[in-house]
Amino acid sequence: MRASMKATALAHPNIALVKYWGKRDDALILPHQSSLSLTLSPMSVTTTVEFGASADQVEINGHAAKGSERDRVLRVLEAVKAEAGGALGPARMVSRGDFPAAAGLASSAAGFAALAVAARAAAGLPADPQAASLLARLGSGSACRSIQGGFCEWRRGERDDGADSFAVQRFAEGHWPELRMVVAILNREEKAVKSRDGMKLTVETSPYYAAWAKDAEAEIPRAVELIQRKDLEGLGALSERNAWRMHATAFAADPPLSYMHPSTLGLIEHLREQRKKGTPVWFTLDAGPNPVLLTDAAHEVAAEALARACGAVDVVRCVPGGDAVLKSEHLF
Ligand code: DP6
Repeated sequence: MRASMKATALAHPNIALVKYWGKRDDALILPHQSSLSLTLSPMSVTTTVEFGASADQVEINGHAAKGSERDRVLRVLEAVKAEAGGALGPARMVSRGDFPAAAGLASSAAGFAALAVAARAAAGLPADPQAASLLARLGSGSACRSIQGGFCEWRRGERDDGADSFAVQRFAEGHWPELRMVVAILNREEKAVKSRDGMKLTVETSPYYAAWAKDAEAEIPRAVELIQRKDLEGLGALSERNAWRMHATAFAADPPLSYMHPSTLGLIEHLREQRKKGTPVWFTLDAGPNPVLLTDAAHEVAAEALARACGAVDVVRCVPGGDAVLKSEHLF
């Protein structure tokens, strides 16, 4: 067997402005539609991978991962081993997020992106954002958009084997440095229906699903144009309507699926009033109760105050984040 090889990578989470909601292939994680996101700094996940361990070991935030969480990590590691083509042996993986405690933010996108970059390096494979994005996608779809910084588009692709379904960077983080995303944590409880299950139910039972997929695809070039022009008002409006449409298709599932809490709607109402009074702030909402507010650097303090006035128990102010990167120090 080869000498053991170890590498560590850091990646940021991302927030989709045009959401991914629904797979055409559950096993390969191939989406029905393309999506577009912004990578968020300063939150990050750091992951160390070492091949040549005595047995597979997967540790996330200080705990041994079990069940599907562990299986998803091992699946990504198996794909790296297959690509490297050598006898790399079992792997040890240790991953740690620096998100505020119980912030209610999904760390899987950053986690699988860091895993993909670290595992490829530990296996001796060259740095390759496309290959890393394809690999991260096997762990969690949204993770393929966290390999690179700035605004990334996950193109759905056409192939059945998924080889053309990966994310590409449309604009680097330096394109729009004044843009701000303010995460409003209204509720820290784990959601009752995970994104993976919620989107499957929506695809299978929502009569609006086909319309959602068609509309989301058509929004991507419009979003790109608005980002190009740094049109905050236009991008804010687009992000809100895309979030509403994703949630509308989920509401129409059978049984119906609602991720919003009363406080989520309260914040949305308050935000509209503040906007009428001149504060440039818009929202987007993933499969959970916690909105993410879009604004600019001059209004991030006002956006945080708005979130707190609506009951936010925690607020995380974010700026456009950069690429996933290799680090020289390891976690073990
Ligand atoms: C609402 O990427 O977590 O956040 O591919 O099943 O792991 P799997 O799902 P995941 O879903 C993310 C859904 C979303 C929208 C988005 O990030 O685009």
